[in-house]
Amino acid sequence: MVAYLDAAATTRVDPRVADVVLHWMTEEFGNAGSRTHEYGARAKKAVQQARAFIARTVSAKTEEVIFTSGATESNNIALLGLAPHGERTGRKHIITSAIEHKAVLEPLTHLRDARGFDVDFISPGPSGRITTDAVLERLRPDTLAVSLMHVNNETGVIQPVAELAEKLRATPTYLHVDAAQGYGKVPADLTAPIDLISISGHKIGGPKGVGALVTRRRGWDKAPLEPIMFGGGQERKLRPGTLAVPLIMGLYEAAKLFAESRKTWERQARAMRERILAALGTTRFHLNGDPEHSVPHILNISFDDLNAEALIVRLKDQVAVATGSACTSASYTPSHVLQAMGLDDAVAANGLRLSWFPPQTADFDPFPLAETIARMQPAAR
Ligand SMILES: Cc1ncc(COP(=O)(O)O)c(C=O)c1O
Repeated sequence: MVAYLDAAATTRVDPRVADVVLHWMTEEFGNAGSRTHEYGARAKKAVQQARAFIARTVSAKTEEVIFTSGATESNNIALLGLAPHGERTGRKHIITSAIEHKAVLEPLTHLRDARGFDVDFISPGPSGRITTDAVLERLRPDTLAVSLMHVNNETGVIQPVAELAEKLRATPTYLHVDAAQGYGKVPADLTAPIDLISISGHKIGGPKGVGALVTRRRGWDKAPLEPIMFGGGQERKLRPGTLAVPLIMGLYEAAKLFAESRKTWERQARAMRERILAALGTTRFHLNGDPEHSVPHILNISFDDLNAEALIVRLKDQVAVATGSACTSASYTPSHVLQAMGLDDAVAANGLRLSWFPPQTADFDPFPLAETIARMQPAAR
């Protein structure tokens, strides 16, 4: 069996979640928008329970959560949805980081190239962490929004989103956080006054194709989003389309199960990290990103004199790992994240990401893996 160490790309759906999804597909199959019968009413009530739960996990109100197809869609609704307000008010400056996922970089590049926005992409330095000061230094009267990810998907480095939310609170600048990797895992951060939070289901044992966008009020004010899609008006018109009740219920179940087991999860994830690092002691490797500010289940490493592509091919019968995020790993170009951290191309092109999701892969033994790597490394000169 090939061990699965690519949990940052996706996780296995928990069987208890799968049961819930199946139930809402086959037993209960009503359209949450049907107002004329019980089937619809039951589906709507269930969705409202799911919405209330997701809202509570980030200290938001139930009506501030909309369901989407995942973090990519949430990011697009948030960033493209804010743009018309910026255009109308002459606030066309946006601050983000150079280490964001493509699901933020691409909509923002679009706003820059097609709609004349001025977008600042901040690079973090070798720690992989953007500082609050680096963001605040770039703040201008016309800064519409800051978009900063919660946890980087390639390095696992946690960004200071809660601290930033407190600083931006007194300014008119809206804060958007792509929390695809951090949701549930570092829960306290997301209870901060962040205006817009993107959530994904499949990084916490939930199904692919479902997520949420939190649109938090600031007193009477809230991020003035305009719809980017039009249809039946569901989800406060921001995400029209028939609600994916089974997937939403799957997200709800996964979030509930994860919240109940998070402390154990964290302990197990940390233990696996220690085991992997101990095993790698026989190799010559660099850890990419600041371990003091990292989630416990993602490691990004480069090995001296070893090419990541060759390594992955050699390891493919032992372990499934990634070079960078799943979306860029098809091309084997240097990681834009490691490059933005100022690592040279030899290191940036050869980063290996190991990520795990306890109790999935609980029995993984990293020592044979480390042995293979050590054997591949030429003797130190
Ligand atoms: C940081 C980050 N943002 C966005 C996404 C996209 O999420 P989804 O698959 O839910 O669209 C991912 C998933 O890989 C991610 O890691």
